[in-house]
Parts: sequence; structure tokens; C-alpha cells
Amino acid sequence: MKLVHISDVHLQVPYHSIPARRFWGRRLAGLFNLKVLGRQSRFALAAATLREILGQAADLGANHVTFTGDATALAFEQEFAAVREIFGDLLRSRGALSAIPGNHDMYTLGAVRHRRFAAAFAEALGSDLPVAVPGSLFPWVRLFDDGVALIGVDSTIPSRLPFVARGAIGEAQLRSLTAALRHSALRGRTIVLCLHHGPYRHDGTIDAPHHGLIDHAELITVAADHGVSLILHGHQHHPFIRAVPGRAVTISNCGSSTMSGVAGFAVYDLDDRGVHGIRRVTLQQAPTADDESA
Ligand SMILES: [Fe+2]
Ligand SMILES: [Fe+2]
Repeated sequence: MKLVHISDVHLQVPYHSIPARRFWGRRLAGLFNLKVLGRQSRFALAAATLREILGQAADLGANHVTFTGDATALAFEQEFAAVREIFGDLLRSRGALSAIPGNHDMYTLGAVRHRRFAAAFAEALGSDLPVAVPGSLFPWVRLFDDGVALIGVDSTIPSRLPFVARGAIGEAQLRSLTAALRHSALRGRTIVLCLHHGPYRHDGTIDAPHHGLIDHAELITVAADHGVSLILHGHQHHPFIRAVPGRAVTISNCGSSTMSGVAGFAVYDLDDRGVHGIRRVTLQQAPTADDESA
């Protein structure tokens, strides 16, 4: 099967039409990031770029598209409406899209409480096995005809603190993930694990405490011990692919699919015998200043 991987699209809307009181609290820092630190301009073409990517994915004959989080910038309902409109065809096409949230989709406690991400991506969050943590949609498992299984976990941690973007899988989800990986339905399949926060940076070092995956070591152990072939993530906006030393696992960070200078998506050729191809397609956009990540 041909799997297309999209991440960190960070769709924006005209924020001047949103009441100022909605920016109070954590979104003030987000607004500073957008307006003063230049993030808004780096993602100015996000909507058009995402439409272009989805068109290219269809042209490539992708069997499935997976999205690894950060659909929005500030988790406003207006941003989620824009996301839902652009992903509309895939959402309406049963089994065509899967998704997990990023930290920006859980940007405020209100966005978490109102379950905005879950509502926007409802059709992309189903599971073929009942392995989710009780009361949660994660992990979900998708089984494909050609011997491939896709598993999605939620690595977001809701926070009130500005400029904190760390993540964790958590003990309950790690237990459910382990149970899923031991399920008889996954026997003989090539297993791909999706999350937002990556276990490593591009050079193999661990990401900063305010930004990285807290339980990265536990995740790698569970994944490698139970036959995961490929870990897909985003969050770090510059893409990279790297092997896990001493383990038969490859990590692919899609990077941001829409940020100027790095916009693009990843494509994987998979079947029950393994991963036969990994490549990233870069879209041509006007280069702008570098962005760290979030
Ligand atoms: Fe992120
Ligand atoms: Fe991001």
C-alpha cells in the first residue's frame, strides 16, 4: 500500500474577526509567536499548500493518508472548521484518513474540554480493534488488506503554561499500546506507529524538556520489543529520517507540511513483508526565515 503522511499544517484564520477576550491567557503567547516572531507569515500559504498536497496524494494513488497533528495554530473552532473543510473529501471517504492531535490542537483547556480536535476529525479516529484507554479514542488501530497495521497514540499534554509544548504517552496508553501490539490481529503484519512528538531530534539527541516526549525511552522499548517497523511523527518542523540504534525501527519525522521552505509530505510503500520505500516530496514555495518548531 501507498501511505501518505502529513503533519503540522497549522492552518490559520483571520484572527481580527475573533473577539479580543478569546486571546486572553495562553493564546497571548501564541499570538506573540504568530505576529511578532513571524510564525503567521511562515504559515500564510498553509491552506493552499494543504489543498495542493491532498491533490498530489490522490494523483499518486495513495491508499491512505495519515495526519500526525498540529492542524491549527491556536485551537480556535474557526481554525478547526477550516481544517475540516479542506480534509472534507477524505473525511467523507470511509477509511481514507487517520489522525492524531498535536499540542496546538489542545492549545487551551477550553479546546480540550470542548473536544474540538475529536469533533473535527471524528471520521478519522475510528479503530478496528477495541484497544483504546477507557474514555479515550487512543490508541486506535487500523488494519489494511495488504498486511499493514497503523496505530495512533495521543502524545499531547494539556497545559496552561506558555511556550510549553512537551508531550507524553502516559502509563495507561503504553499499557493499551502493548496490548494492541500483542493482539493476534497484528500477527504477521507490518506495524506503523503514529504520534505527534518524536522520540529524538534529527541528530539522535533527546529533545528539550519543554518540547520533547517525556517517556521517549518507554515508547521506543514497547515499539521495538513488539515489532513496530516504522514510527511516524511531526512536531519538529524540519523533516528527517533516522534509524533507532540497535533496534529494527525507523523513525520518520514528516516535518511541517505547510511551513514555507520545508512544505511537503512523506510517502511510504508498505506490505506485509515490510517497508519498501520512504521518500519525502517537497513543494516549491518562496523561502522565508527558519522556524524552530512547536
Ligand atoms: Fe507540535
Ligand atoms: Fe507544529
